[in-house]
Amino acid sequence: MTSTRELIDDIYERSLEARKIVQRYAHRTPVDISATFSRMSGATVYLKYENLQKTGSFKIRGALYKVYKVKDRARGVVAASAGNHAQGVAFAAKSFGLPAVIVMPVSASISKVEATKSYGAEVVLYGTIYDEAEAKAREIARERGYAFIPAFDDPDIIAGQATLGHEILEDIEDFDIVVVPLGGGGLASGASIAIKKNRPGVKIVGVEPANVPKFTLSLKAGHPVKVKAQSTIADGLAVKRPGELTFRIVRELVDEIVTVTEDELAQAIYLLLERGKVLAEGAGAASLAAILSGKVRGVQGKKVVALISGGNIDLTMLNRVLIRGLSFSGRIATLFGYVPDKPGMLARVAAIIGSHRANILEVLHDRSDVHAPPWHTALRVIVEVPSREETKKILEDLRREGFEFRAINSF
Ligand SMILES: Cc1ncc(COP(=O)(O)O)c(C=O)c1O
Repeated sequence: MTSTRELIDDIYERSLEARKIVQRYAHRTPVDISATFSRMSGATVYLKYENLQKTGSFKIRGALYKVYKVKDRARGVVAASAGNHAQGVAFAAKSFGLPAVIVMPVSASISKVEATKSYGAEVVLYGTIYDEAEAKAREIARERGYAFIPAFDDPDIIAGQATLGHEILEDIEDFDIVVVPLGGGGLASGASIAIKKNRPGVKIVGVEPANVPKFTLSLKAGHPVKVKAQSTIADGLAVKRPGELTFRIVRELVDEIVTVTEDELAQAIYLLLERGKVLAEGAGAASLAAILSGKVRGVQGKKVVALISGGNIDLTMLNRVLIRGLSFSGRIATLFGYVPDKPGMLARVAAIIGSHRANILEVLHDRSDVHAPPWHTALRVIVEVPSREETKKILEDLRREGFEFRAINSF
């Protein structure tokens, strides 16, 4: 087995070739200072917008280089993925004129299946979990003489992801910290190889969901371990076990790993959209979530780069995230109280709410509430409000009129 240092040097060399390939087929995505997030964190925050990359994520970088490397000895390519790797490989195969088969678990969302097909790939729906889809993909590779394209644990994939690090080095003159999301670890490995080789003093921070802390637990164990994963908004980071190569590289080059909660991820997606006009998926917002939640220590006064790694968020998920975000920032409130069960009461409550320019979204009038005083009914009203202060005024007005209500967090 080669030493980790040799592995890193080898991947760095490959990344110099990967640059030439990737820049021919992929966008050079913009990087910019965000005044809002700088103000919120006390750092100078740079965002690298890979959500604007072709196919909506950085994943085409590794896929392009890997497919380029196998194209002369394979009849086609095959991959297993329900996410951004699927679209990355489909796009890369099309770029080099090779057929592609993508095996997705049967639970894959229709939008992802359609997006992958739109790049010309054949989609095979197979298995309920990723491992079954991967076994099927490897079988197809053997049968058809196609090359299997791994999602992260491969020197060429990592070298392709490293091109993102090279672009940051060229585009930002001077920076102190880079924050990267951790799925299987291909992106973090590649970005840190490119950056540390040229600027060893830069600190690299990896971010993973608290619900899937595979790197945190693997580093503690001293080897890659499989974690029991709970669901996460950051589905791109929901890999249960780090790769063998990526584990070694991350252990060597990533200085610190932090975890973020689902609320912190949701809040970052919401703020990116509301303040930055940027649409990020959960994995894509993880770096900013780590910065804004204060999980990345010592950012004050420093130049900090956050990778916005992808923007492919399911619209039903986005809807839920936005409602949660609006609720957290006090723009949606849930008011709860008991009112006499008499005609006209609901109208009086609604009139008071309406007088504050608050819009009623939902009303639940519940006579079966066992905690209600005799001849009263429970009332739960979800309202759009201009601000938290206005909610307080609504509650005061309701109280003045004899209605005892409180604001509850319904999420
Ligand atoms: C948007 C996005 N960000 C980050 C990652 C994590 O990348 P890696 O698995 O290389 O750690 C993924 C992986 O699919 C992703 O889709």
